[in-house]
Amino acid sequence: MMKDEPIQIQNHKDKKMFIGVVCNGGAELKLLVSALLFLCSIISLFQFFPSSSVGDLRDCASFPPPSSTTPPLVKNKKLEDVVVDTGLIKRNFNGYGSAAYNFILMSAYRGGGGTFAVIGLSSKPLHLFSKPTYVCQWVPYNATNNNNENITVAGYKILPDWGYGRVYTVVVVNCTFPFPVGEDGSGGRLLVHASTSGGGDSNFYVSDTIDALTETPGSLTALQFFEAPPAYEYLYCGSPLYGNLSPQRVREWIAYHANLFGEKSHFVIYDAGGVEAEVMEVLRPWIEKGYVTLQDVKEEERFDGYYHNQFLIVNDCLHRYRFMTKWMFFFDVDEFIFVPKEETTGGIKSVTDSFSEYTQFTITQRTMSNKLCYLDDNDNPGKIYRKWGIEKMVYMDTKRGIRRDRKYAVQPRNVFATGVHMSQNLKGKTIHKTDGKITYYHYHGTISERREPCRRLLNTTDVNIDGTPYVVDTTMREAAGAVKRFELRMIGPVLQKTHQ
Ligand SMILES: *[C@@H]1O[C@H](CO)[C@@H](O)[C@H](O)[C@H]1NC(C)=O
Ligand SMILES: *[C@@H]1O[C@H](CO)[C@@H](O)[C@H](O)[C@H]1NC(C)=O
Ligand SMILES: *[C@@H]1O[C@H](CO)[C@@H](O)[C@H](O)[C@H]1NC(C)=O
Ligand SMILES: *[C@@H]1O[C@H](CO)[C@@H](O)[C@H](O)[C@H]1NC(C)=O
Repeated sequence: MMKDEPIQIQNHKDKKMFIGVVCNGGAELKLLVSALLFLCSIISLFQFFPSSSVGDLRDCASFPPPSSTTPPLVKNKKLEDVVVDTGLIKRNFNGYGSAAYNFILMSAYRGGGGTFAVIGLSSKPLHLFSKPTYVCQWVPYNATNNNNENITVAGYKILPDWGYGRVYTVVVVNCTFPFPVGEDGSGGRLLVHASTSGGGDSNFYVSDTIDALTETPGSLTALQFFEAPPAYEYLYCGSPLYGNLSPQRVREWIAYHANLFGEKSHFVIYDAGGVEAEVMEVLRPWIEKGYVTLQDVKEEERFDGYYHNQFLIVNDCLHRYRFMTKWMFFFDVDEFIFVPKEETTGGIKSVTDSFSEYTQFTITQRTMSNKLCYLDDNDNPGKIYRKWGIEKMVYMDTKRGIRRDRKYAVQPRNVFATGVHMSQNLKGKTIHKTDGKITYYHYHGTISERREPCRRLLNTTDVNIDGTPYVVDTTMREAAGAVKRFELRMIGPVLQKTHQ
């Protein structure tokens, strides 16, 4: 072995050069020693061993040589071109590796006695150009080789992202067995066999087995959970938070909605990198009060999907909390849900009660300027910067004929997959005519900006800027006082010095 190593080193260009510098053309023995020393230090570095001395040399030399010196095994045999006939050459194509995963599992949830949802990402071209299939299998915990139960059913595949996917698209696999499985708490595993069905390369029919869900014996305590009244009235499912967010805007948003939705509400916030230290400070008091659950999903950034895998996240949230809330709301943190004063509607509870026969209702948008601010007679321009965003950004874009996005809420027990602007996979009715009862104010982009949003201070109640007409709508400004008092009452003054 000792003999071999210098030879290997001399075959290697970089190492030979290095030896040349060190040894300055010395005797062969000297070369051998320094070569070994060099090799030794390389190995030491790699393995975090203390750097070697000459005394360590023998030990060191017994290490296997670096793997780079032996060529790695090639898995697939390379196909060469073949001359079939004079003038006809059959060309061959050799594929290496794989460009996108067949399936990336995020989560799987039980949705009753015999039904499950498996949520993940899958190669988008695979779904565009082929028809990958999914087979669901329930393996009872107690299954033995003799009592080889084979409970298998075709998975129903839902693609909820409207074709927005990039390298990856979102897949929800609905596994529904014809009878309850593991319902007695005896435990078991849900496997999903994902087959490419010739997508990618028709020469290969790849089938991967996904270990989707494991229930240990006794972990499923009662199926009544799926029938019981939900713990919450309202649950907010957020899109993944990303970028350099304004702590003050997040502070306003959470206080406003905790006040709006009330005690029987909960907020699930997904952090894709946007919850930095200062934003965390704003969320912490609400987490401690039990209003907020934070999910760290930063790992999703490894997989290139639409907008930080927004569609994946909302489907995880839907299925994770599906049986815990009567209503589930989907909107963003630069949007504020508004219900007209209690006198006319009886508050949000009476509004959602009035939609109880619907599985879903959509919510219209009021588009607010994110840079024009209103300065009325009582305002001091020097102090406008201390006002909350919803107090100063009161110019509403009233341009006609523009299609504006909607947001929505659902009764999630009747929903099987969901999107960003509405769900298209549900049982029951949807109502869109909700204007007058519930709406939302949209302050586009203000959440991901750390500087003062006011670029222009205006004092007129309507204004036309670059062809866009605006009118002052002070609804949210008027709501701010109560929200500030609510925040103070709930969590005290800890957030009074929050920065933009
Ligand atoms: C799967 O689909 C069926 C039929 O649409 C539905 O009843 C069931 O609740 C769904 N399961 C899940 C977990 O979404
Ligand atoms: C497993 O099956 C055997 C009979 O096949 C039964 O006696 C035993 O209680 C079962 N164990 C569990 C944990 O269900
Ligand atoms: C299990 O059943 C499915 C169809 O129900 C069949 O395609 C599959 O080959 C069976 N597997 C085993 C291991 O018996
Ligand atoms: C409104 O603003 C304009 C210029 O920005 C100023 O000239 C005018 O005096 C203001 N009017 C009132 C009533 O403050």
